[in-house]
Amino acid sequence: MDPPAAGDGRDVLIVSNRLPVRVHIERGKTTLLPAAGGLASALRAVESIREWIGWSGGPVPEAQRDRIRRELAEHRLAPVFLTAEEERHYYAGMCNSTLWPLLHYFPSEADTTERSWVAYHRVNRLFADLVLEHAHPNDTVWVHDFHLMLLPEMLRIERPDLRIGFFLHVPFPSSEVWRLVPQREQLLRGLLGADYIGFHTPDYLRHFRDSCLRVLGLDASPDSIQQGPHRVALGVNALGPDVATFRAALAGDDVGRHLNQYATNWLGRRLLLGVERLDYTKGIVHKLRAFERLLEQEPERIEDTVMLQVLVPSREENESYRRLLREIEREVGRINGRFGVPGRMPLEFMHRGIDNAELAALYRLADVCFVAPLRDGMNLVAHEYVLCQGHEVEQNGAARGILVLSEFAGAALSLTRSVLVNPWDQRALAEALSTALAMPPSERTERIAEMYERVLEMDSARWSRRFLERLRRAAEHNRDSAVDLLADADLAELAARFRAAPRRRLFLDYDGTLREIQQRPEQAQPTPELLELLAALGSAPNTEVHVVSGRRRGTLDSWLGHLPLHLCAEHGYASRSPGGRWHESIVADLSWLPAVEELLERASEDLPGSFIERKPCGLAWHYRVADPGYGPWRARELHHHLGEMLANQPAETLAGHAVLEVRAKGIDKGGYVAARLADLGPDEFVFCAGDDRTDEDMFRRLPPTAVALSIGSASPSATGMIGTPAGLRELLRSFIAG
Ligand code: UDP
Ligand code: G6P
Repeated sequence: MDPPAAGDGRDVLIVSNRLPVRVHIERGKTTLLPAAGGLASALRAVESIREWIGWSGGPVPEAQRDRIRRELAEHRLAPVFLTAEEERHYYAGMCNSTLWPLLHYFPSEADTTERSWVAYHRVNRLFADLVLEHAHPNDTVWVHDFHLMLLPEMLRIERPDLRIGFFLHVPFPSSEVWRLVPQREQLLRGLLGADYIGFHTPDYLRHFRDSCLRVLGLDASPDSIQQGPHRVALGVNALGPDVATFRAALAGDDVGRHLNQYATNWLGRRLLLGVERLDYTKGIVHKLRAFERLLEQEPERIEDTVMLQVLVPSREENESYRRLLREIEREVGRINGRFGVPGRMPLEFMHRGIDNAELAALYRLADVCFVAPLRDGMNLVAHEYVLCQGHEVEQNGAARGILVLSEFAGAALSLTRSVLVNPWDQRALAEALSTALAMPPSERTERIAEMYERVLEMDSARWSRRFLERLRRAAEHNRDSAVDLLADADLAELAARFRAAPRRRLFLDYDGTLREIQQRPEQAQPTPELLELLAALGSAPNTEVHVVSGRRRGTLDSWLGHLPLHLCAEHGYASRSPGGRWHESIVADLSWLPAVEELLERASEDLPGSFIERKPCGLAWHYRVADPGYGPWRARELHHHLGEMLANQPAETLAGHAVLEVRAKGIDKGGYVAARLADLGPDEFVFCAGDDRTDEDMFRRLPPTAVALSIGSASPSATGMIGTPAGLRELLRSFIAG
C-alpha cells in the first residue's frame, strides 16, 4: 500500500448503511448493541480503517446527537442521523422494499414509490457530505452495499483525488430483473463513479456488466468498463468468515459452558441447526416443511433429532417481515403439534440475536447445519459452520457434522463438498437432510477438512486486504490516465494559440467527438448549442472549419449544410466547401463489393436489428440496435471472415462503434486532410480532434506543429486528450470567446 495519509497506517474510510453497532435509546439510557448480518461481520476484520461512517441504526433526538457523536468517535465511528421520515422512505422503502427484493429475484415482494427514491437520493447525499468532511486528500473510501449505490459518483464529482471502491454484499441479478428497477440508469451511473467494484461471484459480475450494456449501452471488457477517460475495474472478491474472531471465541471458556448446557438439554438427540436473520430470502418456511417431510418419511427422527432454528430479528418495521414471523410461528406450532410430546418437541426456535460464543458452541455441536436460502449473496453462516467443524477436525481428528447448502447461495461456489440442494424442491431438501444425517463420520470429516482449507483462504481479513489492493491498482491506473488529460493551463494555452494565429484550420470528427455517441445513429443530430458553436466557429475570421465524418453526405447536408463549414462525408470519399457542391474521389476498383455485400446481407438476416448502409465506395454494417450481447460477437466473427476474404483485394475493413466499415483502400479521412493542407502557410494553427480508429488516419497526416486531440481515450498519434465531447465543445467555445 502507498504511505498512508493519516500517518498511522490507516487511510481507509469505510462507508456502509450499518455501523457495527446500533444506537439504542430507551428512557434516556443509551446502549450500543451489536449489529446483525453479514456486512457487519465481514468488516470487523479490516485492519486499515481510520473511520467507519454509517447510520446510527435508529432514531436519535437532536439534543443527544453531539453526545452520541463523541461516544462513537471513541470507537472510530462517525454516525449519520436520519429523520423518522428518511428511515421510512430510504431504509424501509427504497432499500428494503424495492432494492432488496429485486436484487434477490423477488419482484412479487417489491414495492416502488417516488418518495422512496427522493429519500434514497437525499440520504446518499447526506452520506457523501459526511465522507467529504472526513476524507483527507488521496484517502481510500470503501463504500458498501446496495444502500449507497449513488455514493461513488457523488464522491468522484467532488473529489477526484479519492480512491473509491464499492463492494456489493448481495447478488446482482440478471439484467432482465435489474431492468425492473425504476431508477436502473441512475443507480448504475452512481456505481460507475468507483475505481473498482467487487462482487461475491463471477455470475453477479457478469450480470452487472450485462446490465450496463443493456441499460446504458456501455461496452465492457471482462474486467472493466471504460467511460471516457475513467475506467471502472470489476472483480470477484468472495467473502469468507472472520476467522480470528471465531478462533478467539472457540478458545474462550464461554463456548464450553454453552456446549455443555445444550448437550445436556438434547442428550441422545442429534442437532439440525439453522441460523438466519428473519428474512423471506432465507427459505425458512421451506426448511421447516422439509424437516416435517423428513419426520414423515423417517419416524425414528422424531425421537432422535431436534431442529433448532435461530431467527435473528430483522427489519421489523416492514410488514412483510412481520408477516413472515407470524407464518413461521404458525408452522412451528403446527409441526410440533403434529409430532411433539410434552417435554420433547422436534422443533425449537429462538427469536433473538446470540453472541459469538453461543453461536460457536452451536456450530460445534450441530450434526447438520441447514442453510437453504432461496437466494443469498454469499452466506456467512455456512462458512462459519465449516470453520468451527474444521476446528473440531484439528482438535479431535473428526468432524461432528456436515453442511446442507442451497445452490442459490453464493457460498455454494466455494463450499462444493457440502450437500448441495435446490431449496425449491421439497423432496430433494428432505432427502438432503436424510443423506446428511446418515453420512459416515469418515466422509463428513474428509469433506469438512477440504472445505476448511478453502474457508481459511477466504478469511474476511484477507478478503479486505485483497479488495483494497485491487482498488489501489485500479485507482492508480485512473490517475495515470488522468495525466494524459489536458490540464486547464494547456487548454488556455491552446485558446491563446488559436487567437494569435494569422490563419486557422480545424478538422473535427462528428460522432463521439463533437457529439456524444447515442444508442441509435439518428439520435445524434446536433443540438441547438452545437449548431450555434459551429456557426460561430465557421464565421470566425481566417478560420476554416472542416467536419470530417464517416456519415453519408445526405445526413451531413441536412444537419450541417446551412452552416459555413467544409464537410467531408463517407470517410473522405465525398466533400464540399461551404455552400458548394459535393465532389467525389476517384476509385478505381470496386470488384470486391458484390461478394462483401452478399456476406453482409446474410449477417443482417441472422441478426435482427442490424442493417447495411450502402456508400458509393463501400459498405457499412451497423449493429448498434441489435442485441448488445450477440451483436458484438457476430461482428468479431464477421470481421475475421472479411479479413480473409479481402486479403489480396484493394479494400479494407474497419471496426468502429457498433459498425463494421468495408471500404476501398486509399480513401480515408487522412487523405482528405492531407489534400486540404497542401497550401499550408507558416504560423497557421492546425487543430484536429477525433475519437476512434478512423480518426487516427487524420492524426497521422498532420504537420508536426499541429494539435491532435483524442476524445475519451488515449491515442498513440494524438498530442493530447480531452475526456468528453462536452469538454471539447467547451474548448472550442473558448477559442472564440470574448
Ligand atoms: N449473526 C449475528 N447475530 C446473531 C447470529 C448470527 O450477527 O445473533 C451473524 C452470523 O455470525 C453471520 C451473519 O450474522 O456472520 C449472517 O450473515 P449471512 O451472510 O449468513 O446473512 P445476512 O444476514 O448477511 O443476510
Ligand atoms: C445483508 C445486507 C447488509 C445488511 C444485513 C442486515 O447482509 O447485505 O447490508 O446490513 O443484511 O440487514 P439490516 O437491514 O439490518 O442492515
